[in-house]
Amino acid sequence: MNDIRTPRLLLRRWQDDDLVPLSEIHADPTVMQWIGDGRPRSLEETAEEIEAWEEEWDDEGFGVFAVELLGSGELAGAVGLYVPDSPPEIADRIALTWRLGRVYWGQGYASEAAHAALEFALQDRGIDRVVAAPRPGDSASANVLEKLGMTMEGAVQDPVHGHDLRLYTIDLTEYEG
Ligand SMILES: CC(C)(COP(=O)(O)OP(=O)(O)OC[C@H]1O[C@@H](n2cnc3c(N)ncnc32)[C@H](O)[C@@H]1OP(=O)(O)O)[C@@H](O)C(=O)NCCC(=O)NCCS
Repeated sequence: MNDIRTPRLLLRRWQDDDLVPLSEIHADPTVMQWIGDGRPRSLEETAEEIEAWEEEWDDEGFGVFAVELLGSGELAGAVGLYVPDSPPEIADRIALTWRLGRVYWGQGYASEAAHAALEFALQDRGIDRVVAAPRPGDSASANVLEKLGMTMEGAVQDPVHGHDLRLYTIDLTEYEG
């Protein structure tokens, strides 16, 4: 995979020196409240997650990007694609995910990175449909999904954590960017 540059961001694969800044993002309860079980993650859990994303890149040819600010080189967070294990309605489909450090919210970075990830999915990987499954209270994610043109198709249940999820999809062959 070649790195992707957007006007303000570099999307790239993970490096060893991303572990500490990503674990700082993962230590913030406000960032993590809508992700998985809603708990902050430790340095060890962050290392495992980066390893899993890198394995997905190697196995699938797509994955979750490290998102770096052009210029300063700061790690702003993680945005990209993964194959969820559950819920069954989306297991084995390709899903969009994102998390940025709180200081990087409200600047359009998540939308800019997600837009690049969808273009990568279609143009580089030939992926024609992508899903996302935010929790109903996660209004920041719903806002980004709607700006990307993803449509809500209904509700599903997360059997692992017992949460309701909203299921969004997009047909990338009709993606207008
Ligand atoms: C979800 C999340 C990534 C969204 O980030 P975000 O910064 O709110 O999203 P955006 O990149 O779309 O930026 C939003 C705002 O930046 C503002 N903005 C400032 N400068 C901008 C610019 N140059 N271009 C575009 N928007 C800009 C806009 O006002 C925009 O708000 P609007 O869409 O209402 O107009 C972020 O809240 C997050 O990391 N949350 C925690 C993790 C999480 O919940 N993940 C989802 C669970 S799967």
